[in-house]
Order: sequence, then C-alpha cells, then structure tokens
Amino acid sequence: MNNFKFYNPVKIIFGKGTIAEVAKEVPAGARVLMTYGGGSIKKNGVYEQVMEALKEHTVFEFGGIEPNPHYETLMQAVELAKNEKIDFILSVGGGSVLDGTKFIAAAVVFDQGDPWRFLAEKAAVKLKGAIPFGAVLTLPATGSEMNSGAVITKVATKEKLTFGSPFTFPKFSVLDPETTFSLPPRQISNGIVDAFTHVMEQYLTYPVNAPLQDRIAEGVLLTLIEEGPKVMQNPSDYNAMGNFMWSATMALNGLLSAGVPTDWATHMIGHELTALHGIDHARTLAIVLPSLLRYKSETKKEKLLQYGARIWNITEGSEEERIEAAIQATVKFFNSLDIATTLHEYDVDRATITAIVERFQKRGVRNLGERADIQVEDVEKILEMSL
Ligand code: NZQ
Ligand code: ZN
Repeated sequence: MNNFKFYNPVKIIFGKGTIAEVAKEVPAGARVLMTYGGGSIKKNGVYEQVMEALKEHTVFEFGGIEPNPHYETLMQAVELAKNEKIDFILSVGGGSVLDGTKFIAAAVVFDQGDPWRFLAEKAAVKLKGAIPFGAVLTLPATGSEMNSGAVITKVATKEKLTFGSPFTFPKFSVLDPETTFSLPPRQISNGIVDAFTHVMEQYLTYPVNAPLQDRIAEGVLLTLIEEGPKVMQNPSDYNAMGNFMWSATMALNGLLSAGVPTDWATHMIGHELTALHGIDHARTLAIVLPSLLRYKSETKKEKLLQYGARIWNITEGSEEERIEAAIQATVKFFNSLDIATTLHEYDVDRATITAIVERFQKRGVRNLGERADIQVEDVEKILEMSL
C-alpha cells in the first residue's frame, strides 16, 4: 500500500426525520444563506422542513442554481452574501447546489481578484479560507456531501473546471433518504452510474497490495449493483434508497483512494462532453469509461481480471476474454439503467472529439490516468472508440 494521509471532518447525519437537526448544527445567531436549485425542494416538502428547522435563525435565500452550476449565477449569490454579511451557507439540493455552495463560500472571502482564478489557475492561486457551510442532500450521486471538491461551469467560455481545498468540506451533511423519493428515474440512474464510476476511478488501476481498499471498493460496487435496480423499481423503498445514498457518499469521501493509485481520466474527459453538449455528468462517464478500460486493458490487466471475477463472477476463458466480458458486463449494467454508452446515441460526432483534443492541447492537459501515461492523442483514440 502507498503512503497516505486521510482527513475527513464532515459530520454525517443520516436517516429519517434528520432535517430537524439542522437547527442545532447551524451556529446560533448566524446569518444564513440557504441555497437551492430549480425548485424540486418546494415540491417535495424539503423546503418547509428546512425552514422549520431554521425558524430561530436569520435566513436569506438564493434559488435557481442550475445543474452543472454556473459561475455566472453563483457570482450573484456571492454579491448577495457579501451585502447581507452572510456567515453560514446551507445547501439544500443535489451535487450541483452543493458544489455551487462550495464556490460561493470560497469566493466570498477570496481576495486575489476574480474567483474564477481558483479554478482556472489552480497551480498559482491557493484558497486561504471559506465561510462555513452545511448541506441537506436530496440526490445521492456525487459524494460532494462528504468531500471538499466542486465542479463549476463558466457559460461564457463553455468550460467546466474543478477545485477543492481543505476549507471546502461541509461542516455537516444531512442524508435523509426520504428527501430523495421524488427523484425522477433519470436522476436516480445518473446517481448510480456516477457513484459506480467514482469507485472504478479509484479501484480499477493496478494492484499495490491494498486488499482492504479493494474489498471496500468492491463492497460499494456490489451494493450499487444490488440496490440500484431496487431503487429504480421503487424510489420510495426507504432501505434500498438509504443503502444507495450511503454507498454514493462512501464512493467519494477520500476513503477509497487512501493508499492506492487513482485514475480520474474518465472524469476529466467526461467534463468536456458536459461543457460542450450539456450531457448529464453520469452519462458522459458511461460513454468514456468502457472505452478507457478497453484502451488501457494491458496496464489495468490485473485489476480488470479481479473486477471481473469478484464483481461479475467471470472466471472462465482466456485473460483477454475475461477482460472483455467484464467490460461488457459494465456496459450491460449501465444500459439496464437506461444509460446509453456511445457518443452517437447522444448525437455527438467526430467534430466534438477534435474540439476536445484542441481544448486539451491549449490547456496543456497531459499525463492523465494512474500511470500518467494518457496523453491527448490517447484521449482522441479513447473517444473514437466511443463513437
Ligand atoms: O434543481 P432542482 O430543482 O433541485 O432539481 C434537480 C436537478 O434538476 C433534481 N433533483 C435533485 N434532488 C431532487 C431532484 N428532483 C426531484 N427530487 C429530488 N429529491 O435533479 C437534477 C440534477 O441535480 P444535480 O444536483 O445537477 O445532480 P447531481 O447531484 O448528479 O450533481 C451533478 C453535478 O455534480 C458534479 C457534476 O459534474 C455535476 O456538475 N460532480 C461533483 C463532484 C464532487 N463535488 O465531488 C464529483 C462528481 O464527479 C461530479 O463531477
Ligand atoms: Zn462523477
């Protein structure tokens, strides 16, 4: 196992009826900005529960944070937060509202110019702080509720970039599975595939003698495979939803990547497909992951064989056949959730591949993947395999 540091300060408050706990978690006397999305929380009763919990606090609202949250929208919230001297933010919604909240929290205290700099000039610009925030999560998928990362889109330039810092961990996250009962099938399947791919990016690399990490990752994958279809069938199945929700949190809270190499090339490439075409985040991963696994099957061989055997019971045939069967089982799983895995099914053609290659060249993207051996030419080939 590789050396590692693991730090995760997020308090998770899980279960039925736990939104009421927000009352105690938000500091007394705080001037709170409640952030939310396009209105789902006003239709499913979550808004009322949060307002009830915050009745003793001074609350301001900022709604309208869109999926793949926009820098342009978030900057309006930054202005509001500064004007109203906000000192705590409560994110109520999915990963986009929470990522947007992380940006607002950091941007309010940023004193080095335009906050976009902490995404576009990561190497040069370090965050020095953020105002504290918490979350009520309504969509299991991203793991944002227990990590310090965020992904923000700048509409003006069609860029989708990430940032993270020790200051952007939520103080707490409330995970009440009942808040997710109103999710449409499209968002549930997105959540399953996003969480599944998060595990794959930290597991499907090369062995470093980290059997516990492998077993935890495999446990999350198997739980997603078992519980995912139950949730699709019946989104009000409390136990299945709770298991799915906790799996998605565990998939990206830093535990799985402790001591092991990580890939993340699928996410890096996928973000470009969302930036250019607005394809849902999880669907971009379903397009890229199978081709990436095929393209890198030689350097990922041991783990692909282990994945095939332990997750899909693939033990017969030559190594090549088992690897291909494992990738096909993955595609079949995504398809079973109504998620298409090729570019043409999303009306994306060769021109987009050229556009992504040009952007990566311009941005100096190189050395992706766990072995830092995926270059722009490889990205081009991987995407061609996804056509
Ligand atoms: O905006 P509202 O009206 O709330 O509707 C949302 C939105 O339309 C809806 N929704 C959320 N909870 C609901 C609900 N509808 C009914 N009932 C509920 N309980 O679902 C739609 C999608 O929401 P969104 O927050 O965009 O989805 P998700 O949680 O999948 O977040 C995706 C974003 O997270 C980023 C992605 O790139 C994308 O921008 N990611 C963040 C990561 C992180 N911070 O660690 C890691 C991920 O890899 C990912 O990149
Ligand atoms: Zn993701």
